[in-house]
Amino acid sequence: MNDIILDMDNMPKHLAIIMDGNGRWAKKQGKIRTFGHKFGVDTVKNIIKEVNALGIKYLTLYAFSTENWKRPKDEVNTLMNLVIEYLKKENDYLMAENVRMDFIGDITKLPKKTYENVKYTRELTRNNTGLNVNIALNYGGRDEIVMACKEIAKLVNADEIDIEDITEDSFSTKIYTNESPNVDLLIRTGGDIRISNFLLWQIAYSEFYFTDVLWPDFDRNELHKAIYSFQHKERRFGGLV
Ligand code: FPP
Repeated sequence: MNDIILDMDNMPKHLAIIMDGNGRWAKKQGKIRTFGHKFGVDTVKNIIKEVNALGIKYLTLYAFSTENWKRPKDEVNTLMNLVIEYLKKENDYLMAENVRMDFIGDITKLPKKTYENVKYTRELTRNNTGLNVNIALNYGGRDEIVMACKEIAKLVNADEIDIEDITEDSFSTKIYTNESPNVDLLIRTGGDIRISNFLLWQIAYSEFYFTDVLWPDFDRNELHKAIYSFQHKERRFGGLV
């Protein structure tokens, strides 16, 4: 399927991606897992470019979960260093293309150098008004919900709000993605059909697209297939059409 025609007026506003399969991609070529992560970064760059070209306004990428610390130390270090390398190289592109890059998750627990680069890019791109990219680093959906509950509990304790004031909308202002709308389309590469603690609150009415394609092989055409599938679904949000 090479000539996919997309409806430019019906793009998802917020696209989220679970980038899975780097390790298996490397193994298939007889290489170590980190080799796959390096190529995974190239895919990140290409997909951000294409999402920007399609005029999608919000993109959230799952780069490192709260559970990923359980991986071998070498792999964790490689991933943290790849983030630094990526940010250093991409800052110019982000500025030239007016892309705002933010980071979701508990970034204060990242290694110092990674944390500093993350903060730098966030500050640098803060006032950009084009595509918004959220990179999830040390992110967990449950962790995010607990964090938001604590924030709200503090406000109740301080008598700043009443329990009755807690609503879905007010809760949404306390989560990491409080500046992004709900997710319209969630893509997961790598063949597994699960959510892995990603954006649990934000995907309540998302459409899902699962593909066997491994992340380093996920290209413009694969992205178009996912969006095409989204554009041919009937979204009812619990109502009737
Ligand atoms: C999943 O593949 C991938 C990850 C846990 C890391 C994703 C990170 C990148 C693509 C690179 C760094 C990101 C940025 C934004 C610079 P896996 O290792 O679980 O693969 P497997 O399921 O085949 O083992």
